[in-house]
This record gives sequence, structure tokens and C-alpha cells, in this order.
Amino acid sequence: MSNTQRIILTGATGLIGRKLFAALRERGDELVVFSRNPEAARKSLPGAADYVAWQPNKTGSWAAALEGADAIINLAGAPISQGVIGPRWTPSYKEEIRSSRVIGTRGLVQALADVSKRPKVLINASSAGFYGYQGERILDETAPAGNDFLARVCVDWEREAAAAEALGLRVVYIRTGLVLDASGGALGQMMLPFRMRAGGPIMPGTQYYSWIHPTDEAGLFRFALDHEAVTGPINATAPNPEMNRDFSKILGEVLGSPSWLAVPEFSLRLTLGEMADLVIKGQRALPKRAQELGYQFRFTTLRPALQDLLG
Ligand SMILES: NC(=O)c1ccc[n+]([C@@H]2O[C@H](COP(=O)([O-])OP(=O)(O)OC[C@H]3O[C@@H](n4cnc5c(N)ncnc54)[C@H](OP(=O)(O)O)[C@@H]3O)[C@@H](O)[C@H]2O)c1
Repeated sequence: MSNTQRIILTGATGLIGRKLFAALRERGDELVVFSRNPEAARKSLPGAADYVAWQPNKTGSWAAALEGADAIINLAGAPISQGVIGPRWTPSYKEEIRSSRVIGTRGLVQALADVSKRPKVLINASSAGFYGYQGERILDETAPAGNDFLARVCVDWEREAAAAEALGLRVVYIRTGLVLDASGGALGQMMLPFRMRAGGPIMPGTQYYSWIHPTDEAGLFRFALDHEAVTGPINATAPNPEMNRDFSKILGEVLGSPSWLAVPEFSLRLTLGEMADLVIKGQRALPKRAQELGYQFRFTTLRPALQDLLG
């Protein structure tokens, strides 16, 4: 198969989307960015073949742009967490998290029904949060879903994407763990106390963080695009998840700042409410399917991954 494809990318302006956009553009793919604000997207991501205004949960003229594309990568969704500075999980914000993914994906798949030359594949974002919080249990793609808020969102989100199978598309769900990114995301938040030499584990410290380097995150999406054997769920997590206490220790060593000031659960619960579960609990997910299918991780252990990103 030729590597050059016309790819629709929703959520391209986000943390994962920006990296994927760059990686796909570098190899010559023709990218069509679907954004709620296409002019801002054009400025922040120059070089796409087109910028299309879309409202994920509403039908509109954007549907015509699906005609003739080879693939869709669907990343869009309201931010799950922006740490202490972001919106709290109020009932209305939880509904936005859910509907931006579930109703948004439904709208995309419904629009595909009217397309005569349909894309061959839909690669839909999902999360290792699919598994909920199952302690030390090793979670490969056969593990059952959890039953907390995020797990239920992921189950519904994947179900909406799966409806594209009936339209003849290959469907892949990328269940991403914690994407390491120093400029934002969870790692950016975790680094703040270390910068003030007040870093430390988040109690209880034994919760697992299933991290992934952005190079492998983009690599797995490309792998899913290019290999027809890839279908269904794929854990996008490095082969060696770390307990929070070890993650904090390695992060402190890489930053040259000690990991000593433990953060108690109750203080996070007070500041973050229900959202605190994201950091107090965690998943021990393993990328079994990706490895079985032959994906070679560039970063398998945390220290080199952090050294690469944080210098
Ligand atoms: N980053 C991680 O560690 C991680 C881990 C697990 C799963 N994921 C999932 O992977 C996907 C991409 O992650 P990310 O970190 O790149 O996300 P992100 O930085 O929050 O960006 C997501 C994009 O979605 C669009 N968006 C924002 N709010 C929206 C809303 N209310 N309705 C519809 N679209 C909205 C925005 O694009 P426009 O403004 O251009 O429309 C935004 O750039 C997300 O769905 C996320 O849940 C991420």
C-alpha cells in the first residue's frame, strides 16, 4: 500500500493531534483538519490540504469533505483534565466531556453513511481509562471495562465508532495512557512542584501510571493506519508502566530535583474532587496487541523517555 493518504484529522490542534499532524505531514500524507475554529487551526498547523469548520455534534457542510478520504483519525473531545487550573468535573462539564466524544463520534459516523467513496479506516481515540481502576491487575486489551465515569465514556465512545464497521470501515480504538509532554498534559502538571524543589509521590504511591512517549503515540496511530491487520482496541501505553512512587523518583532524578514531599490523597480530593481519581488511582495497562502485531516501541522504559523529552 502507498504510504501517502488523504487523512481527515479531528482534534488536530490538541496535544496528540499536533504531534500526529507533524509526523504524518513529514511522510507526505495529505491532511484535512476538521476544527471548530479552522482559522486558528490554519495558523497553528500550517501545511494541511484543507481546514474544515465542523461542529462535531451537528450535521453540516463539513460532511462533504469526507468524500474520497482514505482515513479518518478522530481525536476531538473536551479536555478531560487540565489539572488544578482547568475546569472541575461539575455535572455539566462531565456531560460536555461525554457528549463531545460520544455525540461527536456519532455525528461523524452518521455523516459517513451518505458518503459514496468512504474512507477505509476510522482510527478513534479512546483511553486506558476504559479499564477503570483495577489496582495491580495487568490490563491487556481483553480486560473488561471499568464502571467509573471515564470508563463508561470510553465504552460509549468506542461503541459509536464501532458503528462505522457496518459501513465497511476498519475501526481501531487507540486506548492511550498518559502521554508524556513537558509543555502540558499530566506531565507538565507533575513537573511544577519539582521545579520548586517540592516534588514527591502522590499517595498511595503504589498506583500504576501507564505512560507513553509522544513518538510512540504518533507511531502507533501511523501503524494502525498502515496495517490492515490492526482492528479493534490497541493499548497505546509503553511496555513498562511505573508505580507513581517510582515515576516520581525517576522524574525527580531526571530533573535534578529531589522527590521527597509526598502529596496526601485528601489534599488532592479537596482541590480536584472526583477528578483526583485520575492521579490517585491508575491503570497497569500493557500494549499486548501492538506488540503481537509487530509494533516496535522506540521508548520502552521511563528514564530514557523522560531524558529524551526533558533533556
Ligand atoms: N493526552 C493524553 O494523555 C490522553 C490520554 C488518553 C486519551 N486521550 C484522548 O485522546 C484525544 C486527544 O487527546 P489530546 O490530549 O490531544 O486532547 P486535547 O489536547 O484536549 O485536544 C483535543 C482537541 O479536541 C477539540 N475539542 C476541544 N474541546 C472540544 C469540545 N468541547 N467539543 C469538540 N471538540 C473539542 C479541540 O480541537 P479544535 O479546537 O480544533 O476543534 C482540541 O484541540 C482526546 O479525546 C483524549 O481524551 C488523551
